[in-house]
Amino acid sequence: MKRLPKINTPLPGPRASKLIKLDGTYVSPSYTRGYPLVAKKGSGAWVEDVDGNSFLDFTSGIAVCATGHCHPEVVKAIQRQAEKLLHMSGTDFYYTSQIELAEKLALLAPGNDGKRVYFGNSGAEAVEAALKLARWNTKRELNIAFFGAFHGRTMGALSLTASKAIQKKHYNPLVPGITHIPYAYCYRCPYNLEYPGCDLACVKWVEDTLFRTTIPPEEVAAIFVEPIQGEGGYIVPPPEFHKELSETARKYGILYVADEVQSGMGRTGKMFAMEHFGVDPDMMTLAKGIASGLPLGALVAKSDIMEWEAGSHASTFGGNPVSCQAAMKTIELLEQGLVDNAATQGAYLIDGLKTLQKEWECMGDVRGKGLMVAVELVKDRETKKPARDWRNEIITAAFRKGLLLLGCGENSIRFCPALIVSSQEIDTCLSIFGEAVKEVIES
Ligand SMILES: Cc1ncc(COP(=O)(O)O)c(C=O)c1O
Repeated sequence: MKRLPKINTPLPGPRASKLIKLDGTYVSPSYTRGYPLVAKKGSGAWVEDVDGNSFLDFTSGIAVCATGHCHPEVVKAIQRQAEKLLHMSGTDFYYTSQIELAEKLALLAPGNDGKRVYFGNSGAEAVEAALKLARWNTKRELNIAFFGAFHGRTMGALSLTASKAIQKKHYNPLVPGITHIPYAYCYRCPYNLEYPGCDLACVKWVEDTLFRTTIPPEEVAAIFVEPIQGEGGYIVPPPEFHKELSETARKYGILYVADEVQSGMGRTGKMFAMEHFGVDPDMMTLAKGIASGLPLGALVAKSDIMEWEAGSHASTFGGNPVSCQAAMKTIELLEQGLVDNAATQGAYLIDGLKTLQKEWECMGDVRGKGLMVAVELVKDRETKKPARDWRNEIITAAFRKGLLLLGCGENSIRFCPALIVSSQEIDTCLSIFGEAVKEVIES
């Protein structure tokens, strides 16, 4: 039988209201909660709150619960490992699960060169490791990243991030020597050009202008880039973008670092999003979906690049045995069909959103790959004026109707359900999303 969201109380309900008040007293106010969901349990693509309301989750905990909430096989793998060994620290000792996961990731990563893996606990830690390894390997001090990029919030990762100024406010000085450049955001081309007539001016600008006028390429260690920009708005660059940019990088001995923290682990319908672009990056950062919800970050680098000496970098908890087992089971499930499901259901979702787009002028752009999908909201299609207020109101209206969504970029809504999502659940999402758009636009 088709499952539908069930909202039995005003939102937030009485138990949620009490907990939110307590949170206000004791929890850091730096978190950004868009709406008052207080989760109690989850199963598949569904989340129940503390008042017994049931929501269809198209956020999967910010693109983390790749196999769905509490996938029974992942839970079993966690339980089995938890009974045997909770922690030993890969920094000082060896243990099976870390070695086996490193082998698995090394073999899965795009390209035929040998790979090595460093483990941390989060996306930011994976990026931090990449920033350090880029310096260590090249002995160069400068780096390039993109406007709109999100790479994390620790000081190094934050220095690469250029998503929202609030994320950097009062934290300067950050890591020096990072230059941000425009991303290939074709819906709002920073050069006012149109693909393919633009001839990828955004890539050519790097060599013709940036390297000629501002930063000597032989001093650049790495280009950090999201294959598909995530927090920045789920922006899919043109098919040749990464190939051309990585070739420019290679020409000057600059490392190409793909931040796959959000786009990796099957989300885009391929194991890693860079596979859509035919590029084998020198380094790749992973986290989020890798362990279905357990904390784990990984930096996968070509073996001849990851040659730093003992003591150069490490983390007590990184690559914890329980997280590693959750990752092994997650990857098994991804390989057994979930990556394909992401491709199939993602196409179905995009189709459904494009149908809705015909009805609603405010849906300026529908874009994505696999289950990394976004709708950009505009006041009208001619001016493309960003409709940030409508975006936020639509997300809130969807929540009240039992659908969990998240924003991204200035005025986009992202759809990043678990990779186990079914077409029926997508139909339910589309129907609630359509009602939410109608409610906001006609009010
Ligand atoms: C592309 C990308 N890199 C890095 C990060 C940081 O990951 P974490 O929040 O696990 O530190 C994120 C988080 O959203 C991300 O999307």
